Amino acid sequence: ERQKHIRNFSIVAHIDHGKSTISDRILEATHTVASRDMQAQLLDTMDLERERGITIKMNAVEVHYVANDGETYIFHLVDTPGHVDFSYEVSRSLAAADGAILVVDAAQGVEAQTLANVYLALDNDLEILPLINKIDLPAAEPEKVRAEIEDVIGLDASDAVLASAKKGIGIPELLEQIVTKLPAPEGDLEGPLKALIFDSTYDAYKGVILTIRVKDGMVKPGDKIKFMNSGAEYDVTEVGVNSPHPIKREYLVAGDIGYVAASIKNIRDARPGDTITTVQNGAAEPLAGYKPMTPMVYSGLYPSDNAKYNYLREALEKLQLNDASLEFDPETSQALGFGFRTGFLGMLHMDVIQERLEREFDLDLITTAPSVTYHAFLKDGTMVEVDNPSELPEVGEIEHIEEPFVYAQIMVPNDYVGAVMDLAQRKRGEFDTMDYLDANRVNVKYYLPLSEIIFEFFDILKSTTRGYASLDYEMSGYRPSDLVKIDILLNGDKVDALSFIVHRDFAQERGRLITIKLKDLIPRRNFEIPVQAAIGSKIIARSTIKAYRKDVTSKIHTGDPDRRAKLLDKQKRGKARMKSVGTVDVPQEAFMAVLKTG
Ligand code: GTP
Repeated sequence: ERQKHIRNFSIVAHIDHGKSTISDRILEATHTVASRDMQAQLLDTMDLERERGITIKMNAVEVHYVANDGETYIFHLVDTPGHVDFSYEVSRSLAAADGAILVVDAAQGVEAQTLANVYLALDNDLEILPLINKIDLPAAEPEKVRAEIEDVIGLDASDAVLASAKKGIGIPELLEQIVTKLPAPEGDLEGPLKALIFDSTYDAYKGVILTIRVKDGMVKPGDKIKFMNSGAEYDVTEVGVNSPHPIKREYLVAGDIGYVAASIKNIRDARPGDTITTVQNGAAEPLAGYKPMTPMVYSGLYPSDNAKYNYLREALEKLQLNDASLEFDPETSQALGFGFRTGFLGMLHMDVIQERLEREFDLDLITTAPSVTYHAFLKDGTMVEVDNPSELPEVGEIEHIEEPFVYAQIMVPNDYVGAVMDLAQRKRGEFDTMDYLDANRVNVKYYLPLSEIIFEFFDILKSTTRGYASLDYEMSGYRPSDLVKIDILLNGDKVDALSFIVHRDFAQERGRLITIKLKDLIPRRNFEIPVQAAIGSKIIARSTIKAYRKDVTSKIHTGDPDRRAKLLDKQKRGKARMKSVGTVDVPQEAFMAVLKTG
């Protein structure tokens, strides 16, 4: 019957191996999108995704495929992001699928996130279908990659489709393998409704729209549904599928992936990971749901216009619906006023959230330098978690401090192993082991402080290995470190939002660099401004922002009107991203200056 003709699958891969392009080809080959409407990376609907050429959000679509056996199959395809910062999206989409297509680049082979994604798929008991993509590339070595998939991952790759998503090669074989090799969904059609919410968005007219995987039973408009964890109850107003645009349906049944709208206005009622059932004859137990995600980095987000505080909170709540890994709590800063300490999975995630807030909600933000969560053990026997450096207790109260470490796997060609080890050593890494992937490539494993890895490790790694290294990491626990807090004083006043925590060995150097950077970033005034870095009451570095010279200002005032207007305009635009701290104007870049150590 119907279920036998459904295939729910996710497409996973290391970044840039071609997931989105494979999805495009599937949409085309199944005539889901008329060729005149086809555009590259069709499922990357956000402007930001298209501009950067990356997938940030997963997307679920329904397509119909007439197989060689003459039958029509319904595929629910979930495209997912590849970057490590968005792996939460991957794991959520996998919980909704029954199978996964693992895309591996024929020129690059198995990379760090290829492995990470395979583990996620195995955790969810998914059938994995390997596919070797980009066989059109001159550097492609499909047979070598086939062997690598078998040796490194342990998957049978003897039937792996050799494809070029770019040239459209291998797509018919892939579609047939999806039918013959991936399982049909199981689930009780007659049983009580159990559906997993794996994503949601907010629509101004329809309220929260849930993306669900129906595991058992059926849901249709008019049903009274209940969220098993939050307890909220609503009447279903509409159900449907995305193909890729929303299409209303009369019902969704066990095995289906689709959307549900129920005029849900309270965002908190409808969290991804919750299970919906019917109020009458509902299920007894919810589905497993998701492990909560712990943010890796925290940063302060402040509206440049203090009056926008509430609006910023609403914006964050709406984004959270769409991004369950986002976390935020109110905080205040003497320098910046009222804002939110916000948790992210990494720097790219932070960047994306910031840009979405600015674009989708038209907000101007000041963001403080990100920090990991430190554990400060105090002499009175208590421990405090510190994710805002300015809140680290006084030196005299602290017994010792611990910081988060990660277990990192770096896959790299032999020639670069030395450079990678140098880098890891410099970043306070502790070597664990090294495995050979094949004759030319190794997987180097290190324990590294999370704070070192998220800020610039990856950029340096990429540049020192000419882009050949790939990195994946997971939390490995806390370790004691000799850490100190550096405060920054502008014109003698401590600016809380500029404080940061570093290893004592780097304190002097970092203090010196930051005072020099700030000197260049902070605009001059008509008086001299000292910039100081201090540990406790001890000043460790200092620079001075010189006062304006008279003739410079007079030129602005007496210059030709055109030039003056331009200057004023430039100043006005600059102002938005500037905060007055006491007598000094601090631009946005200054808050990030502590990140760059070189
Ligand atoms: P993320 O979603 O950002 O992780 O990337 P992705 O895995 O979805 O990769 P995407 O489909 O965006 O492709 C990455 C790049 O590889 C793009 O520039 C594609 O045009 C290119 N590409 C994809 N498939 C092929 C192929 O078969 N051959 C060649 N030569 N290039 C390809």
